[in-house]
Amino acid sequence: MTEDPAPEIDLLDTAHIECPYKIYEHLHKQGGIGVDPNIGTVVAGYDVLAAVAKNTQVYSSSITEDGRGPRHMGINPEPVQDDVEEILSTAHPIVNALFTADPPEHTRHRKLISKALSPRSVRALEPQIREITTTLIDAFIGRGSVDFIPEFAVPLPVTVIADILGVDRKDIWTFKEWGDLMISGNIDMLSHERRREVAHAVVELHEYFVPRIEERRRKPTDDLLSIMVNTEVDGEPPLTTEELLPIIDQILLAGHETTTNLIGNAMLVLLNDHALMARLRANPADIPAMVEEALRWDPPIQCTYRRTTRDDDLEGVPVERGSMVIPMWAGANWDPAVFPNPERFDIDRPMTKPHMGFGFGPHFCAGAELARIEARVAFEELFTRLGNITLDEASSDLTHLPSFASHGYRKIGLRFEAL
Ligand code: HEM
Repeated sequence: MTEDPAPEIDLLDTAHIECPYKIYEHLHKQGGIGVDPNIGTVVAGYDVLAAVAKNTQVYSSSITEDGRGPRHMGINPEPVQDDVEEILSTAHPIVNALFTADPPEHTRHRKLISKALSPRSVRALEPQIREITTTLIDAFIGRGSVDFIPEFAVPLPVTVIADILGVDRKDIWTFKEWGDLMISGNIDMLSHERRREVAHAVVELHEYFVPRIEERRRKPTDDLLSIMVNTEVDGEPPLTTEELLPIIDQILLAGHETTTNLIGNAMLVLLNDHALMARLRANPADIPAMVEEALRWDPPIQCTYRRTTRDDDLEGVPVERGSMVIPMWAGANWDPAVFPNPERFDIDRPMTKPHMGFGFGPHFCAGAELARIEARVAFEELFTRLGNITLDEASSDLTHLPSFASHGYRKIGLRFEAL
């Protein structure tokens, strides 16, 4: 228990967004809990966060207490404006599902999607992921340089997720735009205008997917969407359209920007550590360990959120019913009690406890296996085809995207020699 009040932090401060790890270090010296007076209680201590993640009764994932389901209207406290409500009223009805559901509903949803995203189903996608990767490299290899994020790290996961959800290749960029809008609706503060844009994206996504869901109910295919639509487990009926729509948007938004930033953040580590890059070229079997350490050291998802269902206290810091609690997964990854010398990027680090880059507990990332395969295949193919990879500072902008939750670089320019 800490006797002093929890330190105040400002998650929206640009200095924090640029380097959140200094704040986590400060929090760990003071009990692992902080308070952002405008947002909520920030939990960075590993053990206390593990307990919060498991305690779904008190720390609920449901954003809306009325069960109407996620509306992507930002983490701002002010009510949704009337004109935005009007746009949202034209969307298909949805319910809280998976990411925003608590047990017992969450347990049922998780069971029903786990067949589609099981390690076995996902491993079967590896040849397709490799083909997408090599096609992307083919497009820029002749130039000796690449704008790494838009030309590689973005299209790789977007194409993979689009294929999984049965989206036509021609619609991929519209699909990515919906995903970007909705991800910011889940984790950022939104202006009135931005809320209108997100609401339009929600309506368009529903208009796109409702007929595709119905088609797969009538005529099952072999894509993962069809598996999600038609799976029945332990006598549980298949997911309804009201449940499937929010799950589809979760897979869309959880599955692309995250993986883009994992690949980008890991690439930056390697550009700054030539010995490690050489080691991975010589021993591709070490790539998975590098990917895991990147997920610990500079995770693409720094935090998500929980809503408190009753008054409680965390390490002596009171939390009020209805207030927001921020599971700071990246903070727990820098807890020195679990990861000694957390600032050191060490792919040989013995992990006594798992990192929290994919979260922890019942909501642990459903796409973890897919993200791991994409990142591994990406680096295997990059090292096979590109030699002498260096940062092109003139064409890079190594500031971060303006979000405290989603963490990635704006622009990474690379130079290389084709092998
Ligand atoms: C590097 C890439 C990724 C990272 C860092 C990441 C991170 C996370 C984290 C931290 C959570 C826990 C959320 C919470 O407890 O509040 C989560 C959940 C989730 N992720 Fe991922 N994710 C990644 C890739 C993916 C991919 C590729 C997919 C889709 C195929 C995906 C689908 C999901 C889903 C559906 C959930 C909700 C699971 C549930 O509520 O039971 N993620 N992810």
